[in-house]
Amino acid sequence: MNIISEYKKKTRKSAKVFARSSKLHINGVSHNIRFYEPYPFVVKKSSGKNLIDVDGNKYADYWMGHWSLILGHGPKKVKESLQKQMEKSWMYGTVNEQTIKLSEIISKAVPVAEKIRYVTSGTEATMYAVRLARSVTGRKIIAKIDGGWHGYTSDLLKSVNWPFSESESSGMINEEKIISIPYNNLEGSLKILKKNSENLAGVIIEPVLGGGGCIPATSEYLKGIQEFVHKNKSLFILDEIVTAFRFRFGCLYPTMKLDPDIVTLGKIVGGGMAIGVMCGKKEIMQYADTTGKKKSERSYVGGGTFSTNPISMVAGYSTLSKLKNSKNTIYSQINRLGEFARKELEKIFGDKVIITGKGSLFMTHFAKNGITEITNATHAAKCDSTMLQRYHFKMISQDGIFFLPGKLGAISAAHSKGDIKKMLLATENFKL
Ligand SMILES: Cc1ncc(COP(=O)(O)O)c(C=O)c1O
Repeated sequence: MNIISEYKKKTRKSAKVFARSSKLHINGVSHNIRFYEPYPFVVKKSSGKNLIDVDGNKYADYWMGHWSLILGHGPKKVKESLQKQMEKSWMYGTVNEQTIKLSEIISKAVPVAEKIRYVTSGTEATMYAVRLARSVTGRKIIAKIDGGWHGYTSDLLKSVNWPFSESESSGMINEEKIISIPYNNLEGSLKILKKNSENLAGVIIEPVLGGGGCIPATSEYLKGIQEFVHKNKSLFILDEIVTAFRFRFGCLYPTMKLDPDIVTLGKIVGGGMAIGVMCGKKEIMQYADTTGKKKSERSYVGGGTFSTNPISMVAGYSTLSKLKNSKNTIYSQINRLGEFARKELEKIFGDKVIITGKGSLFMTHFAKNGITEITNATHAAKCDSTMLQRYHFKMISQDGIFFLPGKLGAISAAHSKGDIKKMLLATENFKL
């Protein structure tokens, strides 16, 4: 039996439930990447490292809630804090102490977070970061990376998918105000930035390209971009929505001695609840202060109805507290497992693949088109994505292991070395 038939056989209920979903939702989903052929299984519940679908199948999960669940699904401490908060209620729409507690823990760990504004998604956080950069500088152009993903905001929805030259969507306006630069190519990037320097409000970069292929930036590259940006009186924005609190207790930028003006956070800092954070230096963030400023002087940024809802704040605080109290044991464990996974995957596949990643994040790229190393999203896009989807789908169908097909994997505190070994065994059984 082939992997599709095997999958269909074990996910009959999912097929029926997903058919209902398809009648009501675009592509049956509410985030484009969640659909895969022939249909995604439907999750009933999750716990620890596992997702359990409506047919009762269990999957060791490496998607981990869009990589937000660093402690795994439903960790005890976070669950208990949420239960306590539920007793007090879940939506205030007012100032609350839960927010202050989360901000205190974030600001201690992220030195640049002198002022913080919460939203409910990463998309909003980057959207406001862009607006703020334009307000502060009085300029219009934002540079992003080829293959950089910052959410669906129209301000950054360009040059996401290879070949990066086509519009990502109809309905866009002012696309010419977004320019894109090649990752880890300082000379090529500076050439483009210099051409646009007069009207350049800021540059936004992920220190590890996530959606673009799980590719770390070199510190020389980021430092070079930062130097140009600061000399040009533009703003240096780091999007750490994936990387913050993923590799260490805090952001990645201090490990590279960077000095960003604005940093965006999300995912892990919400402990699995809706969140986005824009934070930065006081002198930059004060442009968003609405007291006593004319409209023409201020940057009017959200918020929103559900910002700082106590559920997100408590989940985030509880998750960060757990990470902090573990005194680095969680990070050293998951980073070590990531290293192990990358090394062993390389051994299994040899030069047929290139494994990218850092710490607890890893991604397999099936070499094609003469690609022998991956330092940017073009290299990643030239690899064999059909083979990657097949590899991931084989593990869903036959091995009870879930990677969102085509995406990078994230190891959580709920994974053990035994889990990684199972994933490696499933890999050995994958016929190229
Ligand atoms: C680097 C980065 N920025 C922004 C976003 C958007 O976050 P959200 O999906 O919460 O809107 C994502 C989401 O994956 C991301 O990876």
